[in-house]
Amino acid sequence: MNTQLRGLRDRAMVVTGAGRGLGEAFALHLAQAGAAVLVNDIDAELAERTAETIRGFGGRAIASGHTVTDPEQAQEMVERCVAEFGAVDGLVNNAGLNYEALPWQEEPDRVRELVEVNVLGVIYTGIAAVKAMMARGRGGAIVNVSSGASLGQRKLGVYSASKGAVASLTYSWALDLEEAGIRVNAVCPLAHTRMVWQSERSLRSCPPDRTPSRIAPLVLFLLSDDAEGITGQMVRCNGPQLHIVGQPHLKAPILERTTWDADTVRRAFDEVFGAHLEPYGLEKRVPPRLRKWTETPPTTPLRSA
Ligand SMILES: NC(=O)c1ccc[n+]([C@@H]2O[C@H](COP(=O)([O-])OP(=O)(O)OC[C@H]3O[C@@H](n4cnc5c(N)ncnc54)[C@H](O)[C@@H]3O)[C@@H](O)[C@H]2O)c1
Repeated sequence: MNTQLRGLRDRAMVVTGAGRGLGEAFALHLAQAGAAVLVNDIDAELAERTAETIRGFGGRAIASGHTVTDPEQAQEMVERCVAEFGAVDGLVNNAGLNYEALPWQEEPDRVRELVEVNVLGVIYTGIAAVKAMMARGRGGAIVNVSSGASLGQRKLGVYSASKGAVASLTYSWALDLEEAGIRVNAVCPLAHTRMVWQSERSLRSCPPDRTPSRIAPLVLFLLSDDAEGITGQMVRCNGPQLHIVGQPHLKAPILERTTWDADTVRRAFDEVFGAHLEPYGLEKRVPPRLRKWTETPPTTPLRSA
């Protein structure tokens, strides 16, 4: 049974990148829950289409074709929401780009474009929304869209780094904004969208029944008053699974010396850290140095006499 979440009706929400895919689903579901939505997308026609769909079922929405990569446009977007709906109560920092490349195939222009949208866009829109929320003094909620790729994934170095930045930003802003009553959380979705269609590997890990709508209840919950007291969290929803993503932490044992020289660093690794190396990446790959302990050695082939 779908229960009504508290504190979405008549609240003003900004959703970036909401012309298609996940952002569109978040905007539609927010409007269905009674929120007034500023539907942003750099593709202004798509933003308008989503806003029209919302108005078509009696919801409240306006479209914005601002780019999140320009701080002035991000500010204007938020100001439009305030002018139209009287406030910004919630922000879904969803606009994002993705491509696959191995490190030696990277092109600086493509790297910059991705970082501008996925990192600076989230920062600029977030800053503008936070200022508006603080000026009004009634708190608010931000949901940043990160990714499981933030843990590290092959061929996604720059994208992973951008989503790792979103995770760090979420933790830091949650600390900064708690006193102002602004909660900041992040989600790691998996859903069938244009982003997934572009990659054969993503298509393999994302069956067509993983629709963007299946992620919407999590985002709506985090924006709602029912999520009171929940901040600084990263939550992953990939269809059937829902879980918190563990925070990176300073791992014991923490060795102490007045100074570390090459010899003591090498000894620390040989004598202590050798057994504490971490499996890395989303796939949890065991570091080569540990593999001899974790992998079953291949059986020696039988030789004919
Ligand atoms: N689809 C997935 O499985 C998945 C997994 C993990 C994370 N994500 C993240 O979810 C978010 C939404 O992705 P999606 O799968 O819906 O992708 P999508 O490509 O379908 O939609 C992204 C939207 O962002 C818009 N956009 C791009 N640059 C913009 C800018 N400068 N200003 C405003 N809007 C801009 C695009 O026009 C597009 O409509 C992204 O941040 C993505 O990284 C998606």
